[in-house]
Amino acid sequence: MSRLGGLKVAYRERVLLSWLGPSRQERLMAFESERKAGKQFPEADSERMVTEEEPIGVTTHRVDAGDETLHDIPWRRDLIKVLNDALATELVCVLRYKRHCFVADGLARPAIAEEFLGYANEELIHADQLARRIVQLGGKPDFSPTSLVERSRAAYDDSLDLKAMVRADLIAEGAVIDGYCRILTLIGDTDLTTRRLVEDILIDEMEHAEELRNLKTE
Ligand SMILES: [Fe+2]
Repeated sequence: MSRLGGLKVAYRERVLLSWLGPSRQERLMAFESERKAGKQFPEADSERMVTEEEPIGVTTHRVDAGDETLHDIPWRRDLIKVLNDALATELVCVLRYKRHCFVADGLARPAIAEEFLGYANEELIHADQLARRIVQLGGKPDFSPTSLVERSRAAYDDSLDLKAMVRADLIAEGAVIDGYCRILTLIGDTDLTTRRLVEDILIDEMEHAEELRNLKTE
């Protein structure tokens, strides 16, 4: 790795850890050490997280053994499902921030409206990246509007005042960050391309949360 590449990795890891905060950072590190020790993670289970450590471990073994039925094995379908739920989450976030943008503009708060628009645009980029990765994995990105809210980890919000909107956005970003941390735990080192993508998105989401905390709505 070049010196510049090494510096980028070090900066990226430093930013990731600093944004995680003490409790999340400790939890992520504990997950990582326990995962390496072969422990299962019941905490990682949720209604929207179907991937488990066992199928990923089975996959690793089968790939190492030269199994040619990679497209049929369970973890790929599970990972596609998890990424599709993340895609739904990003799309709901786009809609929520778009609405907040136009409402804030109507309340004569153009600076805050611009912040919301920036978040909406970044969530849309995340959605595109997730959809592209789903296709690369052999899956179909699910943009169905009828099930978006059901599959999303983050909620839509129709508040009318800025404080309530920012609060809803902070809650949503917390849910999004938690979801991506869980996906990272589930992926482990099995799929480094997806892992890198999720880490990059996670850093953006942590920046959103920090900026929202600092947003003045008085
Ligand atoms: Fe975000």
